[in-house]
Amino acid sequence: MCGIVAYVGPKQAYPILINGLKRLEYRGYDSAGIALLNGSLNVYKSKGRVSDLEDLIHDLNLSGTIGIAHTRWATHGEPNTVNAHPHYSQSKQIALIHNGIIENYALLRQELEARGYVFESSTDTEVLTNLIEDIKLNEEVDLFEAVRIALNQVIGAYAIVVISKDDPNTLIAARKGSPLVIGIGKDDYYVASDATPIIEYTKNVVYLDDEEVALIRRNNDLKIKTIRNHEKTPYVQKLEMNLTALEKGGFEHFMLKEIYEQPNSIKDSMRGRVHSELGTVSLGGIIDYEQKLLTANRIIIVACGTSWHAGLVGEYLFEDLARIPVEVEYASEFRYRNPVIYEQDVVIAISQSGETADTLAAIELAKSKGATILGICNVVGSSIARATHAGSYTHAGPEIGVASTKAFTAQVTLLTIMALRLAQLKGTISKSRFMQILLELESIPDKVAETLKTSHVVTKIAEQFKDVRNFLYLGRGYNFPVALEGALKLKEISYIHAEGYPAAEMKHGPIALIDADMPVVVIATNRGTYDKVVSNIQEVKARKGRVIAIVTQGDTIVKEMADYVIEIPETEEMLVPLLATIPLQKLSYHIAVMRGCNVDQPRNLAKSVTVE
Ligand code: G6P
Repeated sequence: MCGIVAYVGPKQAYPILINGLKRLEYRGYDSAGIALLNGSLNVYKSKGRVSDLEDLIHDLNLSGTIGIAHTRWATHGEPNTVNAHPHYSQSKQIALIHNGIIENYALLRQELEARGYVFESSTDTEVLTNLIEDIKLNEEVDLFEAVRIALNQVIGAYAIVVISKDDPNTLIAARKGSPLVIGIGKDDYYVASDATPIIEYTKNVVYLDDEEVALIRRNNDLKIKTIRNHEKTPYVQKLEMNLTALEKGGFEHFMLKEIYEQPNSIKDSMRGRVHSELGTVSLGGIIDYEQKLLTANRIIIVACGTSWHAGLVGEYLFEDLARIPVEVEYASEFRYRNPVIYEQDVVIAISQSGETADTLAAIELAKSKGATILGICNVVGSSIARATHAGSYTHAGPEIGVASTKAFTAQVTLLTIMALRLAQLKGTISKSRFMQILLELESIPDKVAETLKTSHVVTKIAEQFKDVRNFLYLGRGYNFPVALEGALKLKEISYIHAEGYPAAEMKHGPIALIDADMPVVVIATNRGTYDKVVSNIQEVKARKGRVIAIVTQGDTIVKEMADYVIEIPETEEMLVPLLATIPLQKLSYHIAVMRGCNVDQPRNLAKSVTVE
């Protein structure tokens, strides 16, 4: 939610900043802006995408070796040029970029207005810029100190970078709630919302912690303080990411690349964790908490969006295999509804980005009640990874497309391993059944690769249905979360209204919508409830609905009834989500492309939602 990049060093800042913004555009793309300091402090801003900003300013003299840049996902104030960042202070001596929300901005603004400040934008950010200026002037302190004092007055979340005309060698960066990472080069510094703009220049990074302020000076050591004025020693870590993972590699869109990466990303999630030769599975990151999980009253899974859907699959897995009661909660509901949480509860927070504000808040709440918190995150070193007691990374690699694909299948893979491990420890599964599932899990990457070959059928279906206004997705058991995820993918990137439903619930409402114009996607691979799903399909057909069915290879009954079928390889019922999701991702992708939608950056969405 908003991307931040900044640079200070001997190189020209503009190319580093603009390329960095392109890497961070998945975080927001309502407007973009850059401030360069080169004798004068110049701010360039534009509504729209980073390429719009680039088109607007590429003819100008953009020299300067220090600068800050921002790509925005609007919270306060509509997405226009005035509200775009960076924001100048009133005297135009200071410029600031911000990711997050300053909750008490209205009060701060009133106080500053009473002292003569006039605001150009309706953003909370401009308030902070002027607050810093006001403190710097009135208390006669340097920029570092002014930022630190100002942040003590701020309620809310922020990642900020500040520059000042009178100090052309200094960047001040600070964070609370929103991520910020500092790259330490040979003779320069980089600051960004995540490591992707930094990786091509240096692998040495420092992740700022909440309420930390960094003084980043040309040719000087990095200095970090808390906003309460305690000195901190910077902890330098090595990045493990590589650059090719951040590029499209010949695919038209990141989303398509990420869909096709799934055989490997699932393999990577399993690497070192699935040991069929030893007849066991392991998750090193949570090994110290296994006992806690085994004696837990219940597991509460908190997550948002696609990660919440993975959590639902987790519920089926944990209950089915390990016989542990599970509740799956939307983090945003959980945090505000005064939930009952016991010390014996284990909370599992699932998040691709590891930055989702609601999930973080849910973790803090559960932590304050004494529960044990485990994390399943994709982004190493992310806020959620650090806020949890322990956890496991999904290792799916960077996911750039806003609509989540490979992160989902990696999350489900990890939950499967976790459920299997607990089942083995608890003795709720026989050795032979355990081995059967384990071997099948190992074969999933190859089966995903096979499933990916269904393109011709999927494009045909996409062509047929690209202009409809509604879609219904149905599934039972393990396939119910798949139906939800399929519907979400379609909504997100093609802007067609879609609903996921448990197949049997259709008769309690959605059936009223079915007519000859309504496509109904049915995931019909279930063994236990196959006949029931067949009846659901009949109910749809009887009302002239058009059925697109996902079936197991060799199916004959559903094939006869459905208008279109997509075949997936046979597997264990609990592993079907890992296969059945793939054609649904592709269906939404092709429909979105045919409708001319921006697949990687769908309107109004952002990949990392660091605000409520
Ligand atoms: C946003 C993204 C979704 C994602 C959700 C949760 O809404 O657009 O794709 O599923 O956030 O994100 P997380 O990073 O916590 O998994």
